[in-house]
Order: sequence, then structure tokens, then C-alpha cells
Amino acid sequence: MKFNHEIVEKNIGLMGILTVIAISIGGLVQITPLLFQKDTTEPVTDLRPYTALELEGRDIYIREGCNNCHSQMIRPLRAETERYGHYSVAGEHVWEHPFLWGSKRTGPDLARVGGRYSDKWHEVHLLDPRAVVPQSNMPSFKWLADATLDGELTAKKMEVFRGFGVPYSDEEIAGAQKAVKGKTEMEAIIAYLQSLGHALK
Ligand code: HEC
Repeated sequence: MKFNHEIVEKNIGLMGILTVIAISIGGLVQITPLLFQKDTTEPVTDLRPYTALELEGRDIYIREGCNNCHSQMIRPLRAETERYGHYSVAGEHVWEHPFLWGSKRTGPDLARVGGRYSDKWHEVHLLDPRAVVPQSNMPSFKWLADATLDGELTAKKMEVFRGFGVPYSDEEIAGAQKAVKGKTEMEAIIAYLQSLGHALK
């Protein structure tokens, strides 16, 4: 039997259904293999989970909306790798919940900012960005220096992460509150920033 294309062209409902089927097959062909490829689901060799303090710092990073201006995903393009370092790979992010990749870059990408500046530089920069980068339009985050952590929920957060497959040990969870209690939010967010990109320099 000859397939009559005219039937599809004159029947918008049928055309819609067939279009959805065609797109779904395309999507499945692209996405399904990724779920089974080792290099997208396995952590890279040197990846370690965030410490208790870094984890708190990450929550502050999200609370303050740093990710609205900063991406954490270096694309495999020459201009990006020359500026930021090795492009981001999936295996660096397998223990990340939620991902903070983003694409909006009002400021630079931070995927490998760890170790690029001293702790002191970050502190001065967060208190008053214009003190170190005169043309900066990044807001100041002064209050981070005054707020201290009580760490009451830190262990619980780590347990939740463990439920997602992040390999925290019982000792790490037991010592979580002690590790963060009394530290300032500034110290926590700087610890987090300094950890970014540790697994692949
Ligand atoms: C309104 C947008 C905006 C927000 C929100 C923002 N930043 Fe920035 N950030 C910038 C811009 C623009 C720069 C580049 C100028 C500079 O270094 O200050 C920058 C630079 C940086 C740098 C230096 C990066 C480098 O490679 O030189 C760090 C680190 C940084 N920001 C951290 C943070 C953190 C942490 C937060 C949240 C507490 C934050 N930013 C919030 C816009 C922003």
C-alpha cells in the first residue's frame, strides 16, 4: 500500500501526534545512552564530598543568589578553557544536589575558582568588591562576616545527601555540627569557593 502523505498534511491532529512521536524518538536516542555511560555517572578519581563547612557555604551561596550571576560550567571552547581552565565534565558533579551550572554570566564562571585567590582576597572582595576590582558591579555581602553558624541542621543535610549516594561516613556526619559551630558565614562561603574545581585542575 502506498503511504499517502496528503492524509497527514490535511489532518493537523494526526500531524501533531506524529510530530511528537518523531521528536520523542530523537530525544530518547540522545538521552538514553547518557544514563548508561560510565563517564557521565561515575565520579572523577579525585572527587571528594564537600566538608561540613563547605556544604554550609554552598547553602549560603544558593541563599544569596550568587548563582544568578555566576555559572559553574566551563564549556569545551578555546576561549573558555584559556580563561577558566579545563572544561567541566559530568563526573565532577555527580554528588551535586542541586546542580549550580547555570548559563547566566554577569560575573565570571566559578567552576575552578578554588585556589585562584587567597582566603583574604575573597573576604575583602565579598565585603566590598570595589576594594579589589574597581570596576566591579558585584554587590557587597557584608552581613556574611557577622552571621555565625550553629550547625544544628548540618548533620541532617549530610544524611540527606548520603541518601542521594554521596559517600559521607558516620564519623563525618557525627562531627558535622562541631566542625561548623561558631564559624561565620563568611568562613563557610570562602571554604566552599576554595573547594570549587578541586577534582580536576
Ligand atoms: C549582580 C551580580 C553578581 C552577584 C549576585 C554576585 N556576583 Fe560575584 N561577581 C560579579 C561580577 C560582575 C564579577 C567580576 C568583577 C569582580 O571581580 O568583582 C564577580 C566576581 C566574583 C568573583 C571573582 C571571580 C574571578 O575569577 O575573578 C568571585 C569569587 C565571586 N564573584 C563570588 C561571588 C559570590 C560568592 C557571590 C554570592 C555571595 C557573588 N559573587 C554574587 C557579579 C555578581
